[in-house]
Amino acid sequence: MQRTLVLLKPDCVQRGLMGRIISRFEEKGLQIAAMKMLHVSPSMSREHYAEHVEKPFYPSLEEFITSAPVVALAIDGLNVIEVVRGMLGATNGLKAESGTIRGDFSSSRQMNLVHASDSPESAERELKIYFAEGACDYESVAKNFLRA
Ligand code: PPS
Repeated sequence: MQRTLVLLKPDCVQRGLMGRIISRFEEKGLQIAAMKMLHVSPSMSREHYAEHVEKPFYPSLEEFITSAPVVALAIDGLNVIEVVRGMLGATNGLKAESGTIRGDFSSSRQMNLVHASDSPESAERELKIYFAEGACDYESVAKNFLRA
C-alpha cells in the first residue's frame, strides 16, 4: 500500500468539478483516507512548491494557488502515486491525452485542476504540509483529520 497527496486546485473548486474528479479516484478503486478544504497561505505555497520558488512562473503560481480554497486529499492504494499521476495526464492540459483528468477538463498549464505527489519522498513531505505530522502513518491520518 502507498499513500499520496492530491490537491484539487482553485480552478477545480470554482468550476464545480470536485465531485466528478473525486468520483474518478473512487471509481478506480482508490481509497480516500482523509479530505479537507482549506485556503493555502503564501508560506504553505512556498513550502509545497519549494523546488519551483526560484522559477519565473512561481509568482503567478503562488497567486493562483492562494486565490481561493483548495481541497486536500490523502489517497491510498497499490502503487497509488504512479496510478494517480497517470490518471491526471500531462501537466499542461492542452497536451494531456483525452481520457485523463486534465485531458478531459483542462486547457492550461497553470489551471490544470489537480496536483498529485510525484514520488514517495514528495508524498511524505506534502502530506505533512496538509495533514499534520504523522499523516504518512496509516493509522494516524484519520485520527489527525478528525482532530483538525
Ligand atoms: S517544471 O518547470 O517542468 O519542473 O514544472 P512542471 O513540473 O511542469 O510544473 C510544476 C508545477 O508548476 C506549475 N507550472 C506553472 N504555473 C504557472 N505558469 C507556468 N508557466 C507553469 N509551469 C508549471 C504546474 O501547474 C505544476 O503545478 P502542480 O500543482 O505540480 O501540477
